[in-house]
Amino acid sequence: MDVELLARGDGHAHGPVVLPPAEERTEKVLRGPAKTTGPVMDKIRIRGGRPLNGTIAIGGAKNAALPLMAASLLTDQKLTLTNVPELADIETLLRLLEQHGVEMSRENRRLDLTGSEIISTTAPYELVRKMRASVLVLGPILARAHQAKVSLPGGCAIGARPVDLHLKALTQMGADITVEQGYIEAQAKNGLRGAHIVFPQVSVGATENILLAATLAEGETILENAAREPEISDLAHCLIAMGAQIEGVGSDRLTITGVKALHGTTHAIMPDRIEAGTYAIATAITGGTVELEGARLDHIDALAHKMREAGVTIDERNGGVFVNRANRDLIGVDAMTEPFPGFPTDLQAQFMALMTRAKGASMLTETIFENRFMHVPELQRMGANINLHGSSAMVRGVGKLTGAPVMASDLRASASLVIAALAAEGETEIARVYHLDRGYECLEQKLTGVGAEVERVGD
Ligand code: EPZ
Repeated sequence: MDVELLARGDGHAHGPVVLPPAEERTEKVLRGPAKTTGPVMDKIRIRGGRPLNGTIAIGGAKNAALPLMAASLLTDQKLTLTNVPELADIETLLRLLEQHGVEMSRENRRLDLTGSEIISTTAPYELVRKMRASVLVLGPILARAHQAKVSLPGGCAIGARPVDLHLKALTQMGADITVEQGYIEAQAKNGLRGAHIVFPQVSVGATENILLAATLAEGETILENAAREPEISDLAHCLIAMGAQIEGVGSDRLTITGVKALHGTTHAIMPDRIEAGTYAIATAITGGTVELEGARLDHIDALAHKMREAGVTIDERNGGVFVNRANRDLIGVDAMTEPFPGFPTDLQAQFMALMTRAKGASMLTETIFENRFMHVPELQRMGANINLHGSSAMVRGVGKLTGAPVMASDLRASASLVIAALAAEGETEIARVYHLDRGYECLEQKLTGVGAEVERVGD
């Protein structure tokens, strides 16, 4: 297949997508105490109608942890990460890093990673196919070892998700890149060099990959139209503590001056804003009152704004986030997904579940991924009134949702079904729970702890 086509991902499905086998076969092999593990075909059974009340502790952010772990490939010294969540995606990346030669030890939420030597510059399909974020090893390995061979991640349930922006930027930095037999093969014989890169579109992953690579490139790299997600600032702060020179952190223009080598450090991973947002919405739909311990309101500002418009109280309290919707109706509000600081695509499905119970109508528009409405038919099975018009969903609030057997299709779609189930009359059984295990740690325990009736059952 044509290199450009493959890299753009145009070889993958665009329309309504049947889940790829890779997603279906995702394994859950967690190391250490893994309270959310179980047979792959587990289901979650929820009896709805109980308001959530109490405190939920928010864990470390999966989407910050993954690029931070990839940063261990940039140095021969030890990188210690704390507040590491116990999730299937973390385990997948550990296995990949291990085969590149990174030595690791883990105790509770602390992870030591030492990449004394890169013993393999190849990231094989068998590991990369399990998680697209694996492509984040490309930049660091290429920067340190001057060559890398990384499998193309392939299609994904929520959209084509190409990596062309990553490859174009690395090419600008002097890499020679080809795509052969499903693998990205990159060479930079004399090392990467700084470049002025203007991303034509905001990409979290491309910004992270190039930020990682640029720390060891020769000279100055400027990234314009860079993503501004808090996970990128978290990565930048860790890299700076490792000796990298980065200016403009938190803005859409990052300037990185390459250094000869990075050193080790200890870094605490930021709290998971999507987990926090998910539980905030779950609290709101059940009419409860919950404190999200450790969550940061400034990370979920766009969501908080919409929730307030919808009639929910959400503010900062005791260093966390307080959510309350006791004795008040929900009101339908419109929302459109955008890169940070806009409304996150990773909370669109959950917010839609909330809007199914609001008074009036709500128009939700997805602008980041072309196929991120797979929760819609499942929510409809629970009684939701939703009409899809291209990239927008018109949600008309209904008086009640009813429990039903439903199917999880991707991580955040699964979370939206959990939220709907918490507010539904009767029992909901959500199949394919392994999707949830990729990004929500101890989901049943956290929900049970605030009064929900949730249990994991075998197939
Ligand atoms: C990250 O994915 C997150 N994953 C996603 O979270 C999140 O939904 C997404 O950012 C957007 O916020 C991780 O951080 C591990 P992008 P990423 O590159 O980096 C297109 C979750 O549920 N694009 O910002 O893959 C792309 O197709 C996950 O936790 C190109 O066209 O997202 C998409 O339409 C799901 N070419 C848009 O840009 C490229 O080379 C944004 O994607 C790269 C991206």
